[in-house]
Amino acid sequence: MTAISLQGISKRYRDHVAVEGLDLEVQAGEFMVLVGPSGCGKSTTLRMIAGLEDISEGRLLIGGRDVTHAEPHERDIAMVFQSYALYPHMTVHMNMAFGLLRTSRLARDEIEARVQEAAQRLQITELLQRRPNELSGGQRQRVAIGRALVRKPKVFLFDEPLSNLDAKLRTHMRSELERLHAELGITIVYVTHDQVEAMTLGTRIAVMDRGHLCQVGAPMEVYRRPANRFVASFIGSPEMNFLPVPEALTPGRAWLNAQYGDVAIQHCAVLGLRPEELAISVEQVPAPLSWRGVVQRVERLGAEAYAQIRVGESDVLVRTEADAVLEAEQAIVLEPELARIRVFDAHTGALLTGRV
Ligand SMILES: Nc1ncnc2c1ncn2[C@@H]1O[C@H](COP(=O)(O)OP(=O)(O)O)[C@@H](O)[C@H]1O
Ligand SMILES: [Mg+2]
Repeated sequence: MTAISLQGISKRYRDHVAVEGLDLEVQAGEFMVLVGPSGCGKSTTLRMIAGLEDISEGRLLIGGRDVTHAEPHERDIAMVFQSYALYPHMTVHMNMAFGLLRTSRLARDEIEARVQEAAQRLQITELLQRRPNELSGGQRQRVAIGRALVRKPKVFLFDEPLSNLDAKLRTHMRSELERLHAELGITIVYVTHDQVEAMTLGTRIAVMDRGHLCQVGAPMEVYRRPANRFVASFIGSPEMNFLPVPEALTPGRAWLNAQYGDVAIQHCAVLGLRPEELAISVEQVPAPLSWRGVVQRVERLGAEAYAQIRVGESDVLVRTEADAVLEAEQAIVLEPELARIRVFDAHTGALLTGRV
């Protein structure tokens, strides 16, 4: 198994900085997901690992070896693209074998054995004689993965491999990728803009924003304790709510000060709470820290409901029971799960304090 080390990696396109000072240690055998909005530098980072893009600054080690300036074929990696990039005029069999026939010195028997093994693993043996235009999107995706598998790479790179598939197939392919990772025990770096994919697939996730790495951690760790407001908003659906710090000389403010000290509360702060970390109360005597609000609407999804609550100038989303008795215009009190409160700097967005 092979570790990957990105040390102060930057990528500049003339005057545009696509990736800046990226430090990331991908452990051997890990399923690392790079996640962030479109244009944040995910593909550029992956392409630098693959050797398809020059590294402007910094050092890249794969398996302890400095490959910053190595050719792609010297890196022992395989990459699967969103577009599949299959050869349309070749059969599935040929698509999978072609790279090895062209660039490796493997015997034909060995290549054949590898193609058969990969086809079996991916359940595409019956498709080996077809051409790409005779395959569904999901089948094409398998062929693209198969073509990477036959090379027996030490590292697998995936760039949004499931984006062209419908929702049901995406869920299915997620479990297949998980199984593949478990069976092969190889290192995977996987790029996606989809936070659900990141949460469900990653051993760890690395969240990027505008060319910078914001946070690296286990999915639930990032979900519970996001390093800044960007990560807090980006990871989790529906999004985290941001609530104002209660006025001075109120019990809520006093409680916050007692918990976190004036430091956190003095300069402009906001409190981050997820929809499941707030409760709606109709009590006349509110808890020490609470907000008064008015129900706007309730969206009942079957197993649960989300209530949209107006608090001052902003809307807050609260998860409730599906049959919660709530109606529009009703005045309520919002009470946070105290142990989950996160305090963010309202100007810089940084997490000032918060428990997991
Ligand atoms: N060949 C290129 N020339 C100039 N700018 C580029 C090039 N490739 C990517 N970029 C820019 O670099 C930034 C990051 O792009 P990319 O890595 O593709 O983002 P992502 O994969 O996260 O959507 C974007 O602003 C993009 O426009
Ligand atoms: Mg991309």
